[in-house]
Amino acid sequence: MLNFDDEVTTTATPVAARMPAMGAGASNVADHTYTIASTSTGRIRVEDKRIINSNADVNQLVPFKYKWAWEKYLAGCANHWMPQEVNMSADIALWKNPNGMTDDERRLVIRNLGFFSTADSLAANNIALGTYRHITNPECRQYLLRQAFEEAIHTHAYQYIVESLGLDEGEVFNMYHEVPSIRDKDEFLLPFIDVLTNPEFKTGTPENDQKLLRSLIVFACIMEGLFFYVGFVQILALGRQNKMTGAAEQYQYILRDESMHLNFGVDVINQIKLENPHLWTPAFREEIRGLFQKGVELEYRYAEDTMPRGVLGLNAGMFKEYLRFIANRRCQQIGVDILYQGATNPFPWMAEMIDLKKEKNFFETRVTEYQTGGALSWD
Ligand SMILES: [Fe+2]
Ligand SMILES: [Fe+2]
Repeated sequence: MLNFDDEVTTTATPVAARMPAMGAGASNVADHTYTIASTSTGRIRVEDKRIINSNADVNQLVPFKYKWAWEKYLAGCANHWMPQEVNMSADIALWKNPNGMTDDERRLVIRNLGFFSTADSLAANNIALGTYRHITNPECRQYLLRQAFEEAIHTHAYQYIVESLGLDEGEVFNMYHEVPSIRDKDEFLLPFIDVLTNPEFKTGTPENDQKLLRSLIVFACIMEGLFFYVGFVQILALGRQNKMTGAAEQYQYILRDESMHLNFGVDVINQIKLENPHLWTPAFREEIRGLFQKGVELEYRYAEDTMPRGVLGLNAGMFKEYLRFIANRRCQQIGVDILYQGATNPFPWMAEMIDLKKEKNFFETRVTEYQTGGALSWD
């Protein structure tokens, strides 16, 4: 059921100021296609279901058309975890020990949290205020609801780490305004989020359907599929050296979730292409390649900024190769020509991190199995 085939400047309008408030303008955009059947009160015919611009009632989950979406929803639920289950005492002791970590390692941890602590809020807003409305298929929406909650769990995880280590929460959570290498990544993403969260935006024309597809690709393949990976490697590399093992365990769960988000996004993108081949023009594909190139540049700058000198046996140069390798993989997944011939993976151990089995966790800590269930008592 699970499919982890994946291996795994300084000018700006403040990022938060540009995010629409929850519910803003919702009443005047409540189009019937978002909430009820659009054209028929008859029973659902599976052949009428489509990922976008569907005429089939979005409130009737079955009959399924896209079984991959339902399977990913079930897999996401089976992988459920909560941050506070992870013991942070070793991390706290190490962080408090003046000789526990080098200055470069501490900088890496703090800047890492500085990116992630707000990135998952951007992701959740993008799903809840944008993507969800435009995807007109109930099994995909079911997965998006699960994904939105997972993004909330991820934000919770970063908050839990910040609180456990006694970090300055204002410093960490405001880094996306204050640290250029973080802000530039978010500034790159925001226009693609803004398109979908704009209350006036509707699909149904080739131009707007391309806008949606472009935003879906940026979100799944560049944000979740590229911008997260320097950060994942960094914290998991610490864990492999027996440092920050609680944080590393949480990142491992997050990486597994994100790997599923990416694979779901890729399936959605490829299905939209299949159902709307007129959107997938040569010019559009070239534009997507340009966006990948820009994404690699921004993520590489972030790598340099978080690791100005070599740390943990890692250095920014290794990440240049890794990002090229990953960008090629993302291009292949959605069917555009790769950008970097011959790029190889300098971190083959990342694959085993994604392939986490809960019953035998890499860091050998306690694990709760939600899939067993049956714990209710009526006494
Ligand atoms: Fe996330
Ligand atoms: Fe995600």
